[in-house]
Amino acid sequence: MGVAARLSAPRALVLWAALGAAAHIGPAPDPEDWWSYKDNLQGNFVPGPPFWGLVNAAWSLCAVGKRQSPVDVELKRVLYDPFLPPLRLSTGGEKLRGTLYNTGRHVSFLPAPRPVVNVSGGPLLYSHRLSELRLLFGARDGAGSEHQINHQGFSAEVQLIHFNQELYGNFSAASRGPNGLAILSLFVNVSRGEIPKDEGEFWNPVWGRGSLGGPDSWVLGEGGLGTWTWDFWIPTSSPCTPTQVAGSSNPFLSRLLNRDTITRISYKNDAYFLQDLSLELLFPESFGFITYQGSLSTPPCSETVTWILIDRALNITSLQMHSLRLLSQNPPSQIFQSLSGNGRPLQPLAHRALRGNRDPRHPERRCRGPNYRLHVDGAPHGR
Ligand SMILES: *[C@@H]1O[C@H](CO)[C@@H](O)[C@H](O)[C@H]1NC(C)=O
Ligand SMILES: *[C@@H]1O[C@H](CO)[C@@H](O)[C@H](O)[C@H]1NC(C)=O
Ligand SMILES: *[C@@H]1O[C@H](CO)[C@@H](O)[C@H](O)[C@H]1NC(C)=O
Ligand SMILES: *[C@@H]1O[C@H](CO)[C@@H](O)[C@H](O)[C@H]1NC(C)=O
Repeated sequence: MGVAARLSAPRALVLWAALGAAAHIGPAPDPEDWWSYKDNLQGNFVPGPPFWGLVNAAWSLCAVGKRQSPVDVELKRVLYDPFLPPLRLSTGGEKLRGTLYNTGRHVSFLPAPRPVVNVSGGPLLYSHRLSELRLLFGARDGAGSEHQINHQGFSAEVQLIHFNQELYGNFSAASRGPNGLAILSLFVNVSRGEIPKDEGEFWNPVWGRGSLGGPDSWVLGEGGLGTWTWDFWIPTSSPCTPTQVAGSSNPFLSRLLNRDTITRISYKNDAYFLQDLSLELLFPESFGFITYQGSLSTPPCSETVTWILIDRALNITSLQMHSLRLLSQNPPSQIFQSLSGNGRPLQPLAHRALRGNRDPRHPERRCRGPNYRLHVDGAPHGR
């Protein structure tokens, strides 16, 4: 979207006035770090999303790019691609370790240099190396994810950010080249704790509110392979057994969000070392994915990202969600401002293709079979 074009004259004036004012007070901001999700931080102007592309020439794609992220995924626009292989994760058989870090913008997990974690398969032509796991979340349930599905947001989004290690030596080189980056997104829902009566009998709608809808209800449309419609239909016996019980929480996220851990990163720049993590536990037992070509959703908004959105939401408890909202964007010496709301607004999808790996002609296989499982170090991941 032409953010620059849409910027009204008064708004631009406010921007330049603020830029002028900022130049006169306090130390000069580090230009590489001078952005935020909200324009105003403690009375100081720090450029929010509409200004990213205007304050730094290296970030112009944020304003004028045509393949920006995040987007709203309308399921009826997703095309089935039978040639998408399953996703593969490789850790060389080792447990993951690294640093959980409050960056003042996100909760970040930065993996240690060893073991190298690779992802490949799906739409990826190359092996991509994990460089960061990032958590974005909202101030209220049902909002906070960057991507939306059928105009609906989720309470949080986990983004696994990778660079192409076959073509590039490091993240910043990859972010400037073709096929440079791959980001896997997992949506997070807050589970309430009540056990539904029909547990195990019905497919639990992943995308729908209430009892309608679900990724399984993708059916083949009139036009043959590749065109299908979103149909409200719930199968009576689900082949996808839930991996968690109601009210419980994703085991990987529970490691990051348990009280002992998360309270160590309450303030900006707090860091805490974690080890013995099994990244495969972050993934649902079976899932499909949707992929499109987009950008980094933070400056410099480089348009070299293959996004892969996992189509089953993960659960966390309200308590865990609450502990995230208690993290501050600021160091302890400054006032508390919640990290929540750390996502970029939606960008237009325009004519970009959305591809998915769910086969609408074989609904009975919709969550069976190796295509709908994460393959870990070569073998399908079973639990
Ligand atoms: C990750 O991918 C690279 C390049 O394809 C490969 O050399 C390396 O062995 C992989 N690492 C693991 C742990 O599989
Ligand atoms: C990243 O790689 C590029 C090109 O290979 C190199 O010029 C640059 O110094 C590297 N940056 C870092 C931080 O290692
Ligand atoms: C999210 O959780 C709520 C309450 O537990 C539930 O009603 C809803 O269906 C869930 N949504 C998704 C997408 O899983
Ligand atoms: C999430 O919680 C709901 C109940 O709130 C449950 O029905 C569902 O199976 C859980 N999802 C996963 C992936 O465990």
